[in-house]
Amino acid sequence: MAGLLDSYTIKGLTLKNRIMMSPMCQYVANTDGTVSDWHFVHYGARAIGGVGLIMLEASAVEARGRISMHDIGIWSDDHIAGLRRIVDFGHQYGASMGIQIAHAGVKAETDEPNVAPSALTHFPRYTVPQELSVAEIGEIVEKFKAAAVRAVQAGFDTVELHGAHGYLLNEFLSPLTNKRTDEYGGTLENRLRFPLQVISAVKSVLPVEMPLLMRVSASEYSEESYSLDEMVSMVTAFKEAGVDMVDCSSGGALPVAPPAIYPGYQVQFAEAIKRGADIPTIAVGLLDNPALAEEVVRNGRADLVAIARGLLRDPHWAKVAALALKAELELPSSYARAY
Ligand SMILES: Cc1cc2nc3c(=O)[nH]c(=O)nc-3n(C[C@H](O)[C@H](O)[C@H](O)COP(=O)(O)O)c2cc1C
Repeated sequence: MAGLLDSYTIKGLTLKNRIMMSPMCQYVANTDGTVSDWHFVHYGARAIGGVGLIMLEASAVEARGRISMHDIGIWSDDHIAGLRRIVDFGHQYGASMGIQIAHAGVKAETDEPNVAPSALTHFPRYTVPQELSVAEIGEIVEKFKAAAVRAVQAGFDTVELHGAHGYLLNEFLSPLTNKRTDEYGGTLENRLRFPLQVISAVKSVLPVEMPLLMRVSASEYSEESYSLDEMVSMVTAFKEAGVDMVDCSSGGALPVAPPAIYPGYQVQFAEAIKRGADIPTIAVGLLDNPALAEEVVRNGRADLVAIARGLLRDPHWAKVAALALKAELELPSSYARAY
């Protein structure tokens, strides 16, 4: 089996190593959704630092789908130029570039009312959302599609659908948050309908060789929600609709913490989904010990390892990991003397 620092190919995309910068909201975009210089420097630094795949943070497909007024937007053509500048810089230093496209649903905090499959929230923090009509659901599908077109125009190598953490796609999947009685709620088949429509719409506008990624919450840490076996069935449906790789996170639908948080606590999900749905996966969650990240990849538990907070602390985490693992990773010549 290949290791963390070995290249990885999925469809037409070859990553120089198996390290992904996990999507992380920075909450410093301009209120019109355009990126700021912070984003250029922040993502650029991780490209210089040798990350294989940089996944830009949750970027909203519509203004009322933002987690905050300072999220990156991808709902307007005005957003493309700023994103393109980040992508081009990343490419210059050998990073592959992706963007997570998202709708926050009930968890949106903007100057507009929030929307969700059902008019309920499990969090005191959020206002009770407006229930989406069938026509409005169709409009949001089109917004995901238009966002994907813009991602391609900005030069991204891949797109990740944010289907985790209790945001809109996840809300439709989960019986905790989807209490609808129409064709979008109730049975698993009905709860899958909106996410599958989004996947098909997005897939239809991506270049054939571009992989489509999706982040899921593999467990909601509740007996009332779907089981891991049901998640595997859902991912099998996502795969048939066009998802090429699944980023396996957890939680977010309820204000509860996982029962135990320890290094690699979510690897079990990436491994179960990889085996059960026969699809490449990304493991995430306290994997910034290089030996542990290497173990996950070498033993085939997941195909990529996503690092979030470790890369906030150290933009050169990939290089530090390569040194620890005695593997090759070349940084730009300006930094050659640092190592
Ligand atoms: C500051 C911050 C912002 C985050 N924003 C996002 C996001 O935009 N989208 C997402 O799917 N996860 C988000 N996450 C979760 C991370 O991608 C990751 O799954 C989580 O932090 C666990 O990985 P880690 O232990 O390496 O930090 C965020 C995490 C942090 C710390």
